[in-house]
Amino acid sequence: MRKVLFDLEETVALGKEIAKVLPENGVVAFFGELGAGKTTIIKSIASTLAKIDPSEVTSPTFSYMHIYPNDVFHFDLYRIRDEKEFIFMGFGEYLRKGICLIEWAERIRPILPENTLRIRIRHVDENIREITYES
Ligand SMILES: Nc1ncnc2c1ncn2[C@@H]1O[C@H](COP(=O)(O)OP(=O)(O)OP(=O)(O)O)[C@@H](O)[C@H]1O
Ligand SMILES: [Mg+2]
Repeated sequence: MRKVLFDLEETVALGKEIAKVLPENGVVAFFGELGAGKTTIIKSIASTLAKIDPSEVTSPTFSYMHIYPNDVFHFDLYRIRDEKEFIFMGFGEYLRKGICLIEWAERIRPILPENTLRIRIRHVDENIREITYES
């Protein structure tokens, strides 16, 4: 699936759609440069799944992970070196538990489960993003 999102509202709407079709205990890996929109779409997905306000979903840049209701786990692995560090920090078990939404998932590529949904987001223009994923 390849889609062009022409504004923030379209990104938020797609996030809600994705939330509806995610399997239980699914892992979603987000790829895209700084500011591509990973946190933005995760806000929509996580708040839908956790039934909370989107403003409660913030980037876990310094804490690596935020836990939301309904076993929704939001990772930002920008500052993690590799999968060994991820496992050393005790995060490995979350990949088999609840829904994991992972920014900078390339850091742990070797241990991403086989059925991981991989979502790529690309900055096209100020408000325009291109999103690609398998489905
Ligand atoms: N159509 C759009 N979809 C998503 N974000 C958009 C869109 N248009 C503008 N933006 C803006 O782009 C920015 C995306 O920032 P965001 O924090 O989501 O990026 P990120 O990929 O998580 O970056 P980082 O790697 O730093 O975590 C936000 O300020 C958002 O408002
Ligand atoms: Mg982010």
